[in-house]
Amino acid sequence: MRKKMIAGNWKMNNNQAAAKDFVENLESWFAAEPAGKKAAASGEVEVVIAPPFTSIGAAVAAKKSKLVHIAAQNVYHESKGAFTGEVSLSMLEEAGCEYVIIGHSERRHVFHEPDDVLEKKLIATLESRVLPIFCVGEMLEERASGNAEKVISRQLDFAWQSLTSDVVGEMLVIAYEPVWAIGTGQTASDADAEKACDYIRNLAYEKFGQTASDSLRILYGGSVKPENSASLCSQNDIDGLLIGGASLDVKSFEKIIETVI
Ligand code: PGA
Repeated sequence: MRKKMIAGNWKMNNNQAAAKDFVENLESWFAAEPAGKKAAASGEVEVVIAPPFTSIGAAVAAKKSKLVHIAAQNVYHESKGAFTGEVSLSMLEEAGCEYVIIGHSERRHVFHEPDDVLEKKLIATLESRVLPIFCVGEMLEERASGNAEKVISRQLDFAWQSLTSDVVGEMLVIAYEPVWAIGTGQTASDADAEKACDYIRNLAYEKFGQTASDSLRILYGGSVKPENSASLCSQNDIDGLLIGGASLDVKSFEKIIETVI
């Protein structure tokens, strides 16, 4: 049984005060509200938030329970040195991050991070105590020209070419985020999201075998909101959600958690 992951990617939003308020609110929801208590007691969902670097400390400091996990939105693969503007895995660990998002479409397309750099980031992360949430997904024109699966398999082939079955089954989380659905309000249909996640699981099966592909967690992301979270998350191969806009408001984030338990 794969544990669901509900992850909020705040992008460049929420300063320290907002991060503190958000985490405090979420903690009280888990502790005192019926839906939150049910989510906490069920143990079925792992809740992650990814603040911008400067708000990570405030989010970690506001945590009271082990119910909320903190992710970074990016990392650099080198351990230290002359890399202006970058942050290492040991720095993320020290700050209290348990996860890091790698290869988000904004990193790929706005900041032009190529497949070979993302592979290095993934490998370095798997050698650290931080776990990766590795994003893949096609652009609108790639989908329109019938190349969506080709793009996804290229991104994954690069990223996981040197990984072993154990690592893929136990440590990796993949997020399928079609670029055309991110921040556009144009969510993928349940069937399209499931088809892509099933495709990813099959790729994992072909390369790493049954055990690894059965335990690999695959999230969907792209215009998720409380109105569509339940049906997306109930698809066979969708093990959770990576949420941008709708994760900024704590009430809507809590609502999404409530819909998937
Ligand atoms: P969105 O973003 O939910 O605002 O579409 C998702 C993401 O970029 O991870």
